Amino acid sequence: MKVLVTGGMGYIGSHTCVELLERGMDVVIVDNLCNSKAQARERVAAITGKSPLFYQLDVRDVEALAAVFRIHTFDCVIHFAGLKAVGESVEKPLLYYDNNLNATINLCRVMDRFGCRNIIFSSSATVYSPDNQLPLTEQSRVGDCSNPYGWTKYMGEQILRSMAQADPRWSVVLLRYFNPVGAHESGDIGEDPRGIPNNLMPYISQVAIGRRERLSVFGDDYPTPDGTGVRDYIHVVDLARGHVAAIDYLMSHKGTEAFNLGTGVGYSVLDMVKAFETANHIEIPYQIAPRRAGDLPEVYADPSKSAEILGWTAQHTLEDMCRDSFRWQSKNPQGYDG
Ligand code: NAD
Ligand code: UD1
Repeated sequence: MKVLVTGGMGYIGSHTCVELLERGMDVVIVDNLCNSKAQARERVAAITGKSPLFYQLDVRDVEALAAVFRIHTFDCVIHFAGLKAVGESVEKPLLYYDNNLNATINLCRVMDRFGCRNIIFSSSATVYSPDNQLPLTEQSRVGDCSNPYGWTKYMGEQILRSMAQADPRWSVVLLRYFNPVGAHESGDIGEDPRGIPNNLMPYISQVAIGRRERLSVFGDDYPTPDGTGVRDYIHVVDLARGHVAAIDYLMSHKGTEAFNLGTGVGYSVLDMVKAFETANHIEIPYQIAPRRAGDLPEVYADPSKSAEILGWTAQHTLEDMCRDSFRWQSKNPQGYDG
């Protein structure tokens, strides 16, 4: 099995490459390194003993991408490449629509040209409308996205669906991730955000090693058990294994199918702080701050469709997530730079 992984040097992509290589698959990565570091490839090679091939290119560059397809015959593509910072997408919407949508369109054009029509797309729980009942199933309403990043995922899904409807040779799997956290248990690959982290777990990890003074908890007056926001956190290695399960499905089914990748359990911000403290025997100073614009009180998945059809369920505990995040951050206080 030969797999093209776009965005494979990034957080979820690098963990997925490890799982693919460990199952004996051939892995080729394309990435323009706009939000990742070349060291990720060496780390993946050190973990697995196998070095994935890497081409530094922008997925929007059709000719550069076609050159890779001329060299390699791929069985399928996992498409991670995209920009993902919500706040930046509000400030620079055209950057997000251009990068995320044109990358997907150009990738599909090149795949079609070379006769590879099997694709797994990195989607997000953010495609679900805010007014759904919980837990979110794949039948829950999508749309009403609260920011341009979310719309690029919604539109990306729609582009792929329309394409598979027009040409029945296509197989499309849409994976809707909930909140990926944690790192490989080696502590050698992990999340390496630029600047001040937007997301909870990288922020807590940086407080833990003293890079940030204290966590701001965005709101303690939500209608949740302790008043803080509740999310479905999933260990990134479980998420990576969800892609392996999705490949089996992809290769034996035509058309489009969406799957939630979450645990089905919601934890609050204060649950996360306490779990991190207990798992790592460390104190996380925090203060209560105003709500963050666009945040929902509570989001969690119904992952039963993935269990039934893909045969996949998350295995790692909240303790694993906290311990592995801290191990990665402690071993790499400045991320891949040291
Ligand atoms: P990441 O930023 O670590 O990885 C994305 C990779 O894509 C980076 O290595 C970046 O350099 C590359 N890239 C971006 N645009 C590119 C382009 N035009 N050409 C080539 N390479 C390009 O992000 P991640 O957390 O690993 O997320 C992977 C995918 O999953 C993204 O599409 C993201 O939107 C989606 N997703 C992430 C989360 C999350 O919480 N991390 C949640 C839901 C969905
Ligand atoms: C955010 C994005 C979502 C994206 C996801 C990727 C927003 C509004 N949503 O989701 O589109 O798909 O990241 O993982 O940005 N929190 C704090 N203090 C912090 C950081 C976060 O209290 O410093 C709280 C948030 O208010 C929220 C929870 O922690 O209740 C999780 O936040 P975060 O990790 O940013 O994820 P989401 O908001 O779920």
